[in-house]
Amino acid sequence: MTAKILDGKAQAAELRGVLAQRVAARAAAGKPAPGLATVLVGDDPASQVYVRGKHKACREVGITPIGYELPAGTPQAELLALITELNGRADVHGILVQLPLPAHLDAAAVQSAVALEKDVDCLHPANLGLLAQRDRQPRFTPCTPTGVMRLVKLAGLALPGANAVVLGRSNIVGMPLALLLTKADATVTIAHSHTRDLPELCRRADLLVAAVGRPELVRGDWVKPGAVVIDVGVNEVPDKAAHRGRRLVGDVAFDEAAAVAAAITPVPGGVGPMTIAMLLENTLHAAELAEA
Ligand code: GUN
Repeated sequence: MTAKILDGKAQAAELRGVLAQRVAARAAAGKPAPGLATVLVGDDPASQVYVRGKHKACREVGITPIGYELPAGTPQAELLALITELNGRADVHGILVQLPLPAHLDAAAVQSAVALEKDVDCLHPANLGLLAQRDRQPRFTPCTPTGVMRLVKLAGLALPGANAVVLGRSNIVGMPLALLLTKADATVTIAHSHTRDLPELCRRADLLVAAVGRPELVRGDWVKPGAVVIDVGVNEVPDKAAHRGRRLVGDVAFDEAAAVAAAITPVPGGVGPMTIAMLLENTLHAAELAEA
């Protein structure tokens, strides 16, 4: 079997087209452009690249990016004061604090300081709590997990009753994704560093999602024939033959898994662009919430 490649880049471009139309319709009705404030603390090069990508995508659909870059040594109180200021600004509809934060900062406290109506990353515990409870609708759904759900839909996998295995239990991907999959009636297992016999567990998965940050951890013989494989990992590995001596790989050994799976996401060009598209959708939704 050769897997269908789930083209997140093309899918995200299509979504941005729809979002651009919605933003233009708002403008025609005299409504303000949605505004996304991004807060980047320190000079981590990967985070700088991610934030730049988010700003570019915002501009493409007519969302105004409002960027803050703070030095690595910024005290907690100063960061919290900025969040409070952004919470009160009418032109800021969404607030994104880029992770990871420098170690001296309390990320949980910062996430809890973001106004619930501007929490486009869905990292506030009250918003995540709404996601966890039955019969309740969260204000926002988290960006990467929602992007994964869209790609699963694109793969044509029926989730009710399907065995879904999620590798990783992070606040930003694994845990909220497990909640979304549970809401979609999948039978979900979250695997992590203490899980016994990971390959055997993975071989039972109709849907296998890898979000652990371990280059090519998932091998071809971990994949059930016909499964859908979603790779959230973005890892830089040395490669003498590659441009700049490094290349990006996911958490899945792509060629091996693609020979067995029914559908698979590439890295790059799979989950990453979908995450940004979902952030734009949440920011537009936040602007609509502010007017409701
Ligand atoms: N760092 C890596 N991915 C993300 C994301 O989706 N949101 C935030 N805030 N930080 C990140």
